[in-house]
Amino acid sequence: MTAAVSLTDVNKVYAAKAKNPIYAVRDFSIEIKAGEIIALLGSSGCGKTSTLRMIAGFEEVTKGAIRIGEKTIHTLPPARRGVAMAFEGYSLYPPLTLRENIAFALKSEKLGSAETNRRVEEIAKLLELTKHLDRYPSTVSAGQQQRASLGRALVRKADLYLLDEPMGQLEPQLRAILRGRLKRYLREHGLTAILVTHDQTEANALADRIAVMEGGFLQQFASPAELKAAPANLFVGTFIGEPPMNVYEVAPAIANGRVSFRAQGEELFGYEPGALSDTVMAQLAKQKSVVVGVRPADVVMKPLNGGSGATAEVVSNQWIGDQTHLESAFGDGVIVATLESRFPARTGEKLSIEVPPEKLHVFSTEGPALAHGSRLAEQGAT
Ligand SMILES: Nc1ncnc2c1ncn2[C@@H]1O[C@H](COP(=O)(O)OP(=O)(O)OP(=O)(O)O)[C@@H](O)[C@H]1O
Ligand SMILES: [Mg+2]
Repeated sequence: MTAAVSLTDVNKVYAAKAKNPIYAVRDFSIEIKAGEIIALLGSSGCGKTSTLRMIAGFEEVTKGAIRIGEKTIHTLPPARRGVAMAFEGYSLYPPLTLRENIAFALKSEKLGSAETNRRVEEIAKLLELTKHLDRYPSTVSAGQQQRASLGRALVRKADLYLLDEPMGQLEPQLRAILRGRLKRYLREHGLTAILVTHDQTEANALADRIAVMEGGFLQQFASPAELKAAPANLFVGTFIGEPPMNVYEVAPAIANGRVSFRAQGEELFGYEPGALSDTVMAQLAKQKSVVVGVRPADVVMKPLNGGSGATAEVVSNQWIGDQTHLESAFGDGVIVATLESRFPARTGEKLSIEVPPEKLHVFSTEGPALAHGSRLAEQGAT
């Protein structure tokens, strides 16, 4: 049943003939493997729902092609695409109970009533809906409606499942439980799925690969680990990761193999000869100005007399239950650091800040990544 999916140069323009057309999705290309779970992640309005609706057939593709397996589907009517979708706005039928709503999705499969009921009950159990099955949409909570909508998509047999913010209305505990169950269900049945979310934790937990979108453009399509280790550009670097990456615009000054990253003449980070690879040093030598990025978990803080890094002054030190968040004045801005243990620093205390060379991210001021640690970024190589 399950199949690979490809989108090739897909574009969506709304109000194309109006004075100000809306370019919702631009030149979007992606190859999804059979059985893969991917997430579309991005801020509100970046084009996630438009992409799903084009795949499902509820919006026309302005330009480009969508295939499932060998079949070109973007010209077919929705019912013939083999795609099941759970909508952002639930869209349940008000005169039908949740049970009937979910069973309705099975109509075209022409199962007997016993098998229909068995499938509906199985999905209801998975989504903690058993007790509410015989109620009407208007008499249940938003979270219950949302789960029924998800159930209606999952109960069907389809080549591809499109889930638009399927758990946005749920409280964190239930969300975490259902996340686990949804993943197990998709995996056990070997289903291919595209999940839309703006929750990074959800994307990381569920998806094999994440497509990060912004302004209608695909920014990067990679595994959660790769997005963190090697963000393709400054947008992905600062968008992925909580708290966000610290970034500083600096001038790299190289002398005798040592590189000094300076802002307003003051060194923020310095690396001795050999700390960064020759290829990265050669790349830096070509740049007048770059943006360096440091993840909060990668900041190393030492007492002022024990370190050789630039000085930072502690502004706030908070223990948030399982992590320390330390914010310090640094350069002409701040640096945020996280630690897994408590850190005994008081407000006003001065610390030495260092970042291990392998943890340093360097971006061009236009955005594309130049290097991650000693690894030259793909774009940086050109
Ligand atoms: N039917 C429509 N007509 C005109 N513009 C639209 C239409 N639907 C969406 N848009 C616009 O297209 C862009 C992308 O919208 P889309 O719904 O795909 O975003 P999204 O990533 O799903 O956002 P959210 O996270 O808020 O759901 C937005 O600028 C939106 O205003
Ligand atoms: Mg949306």
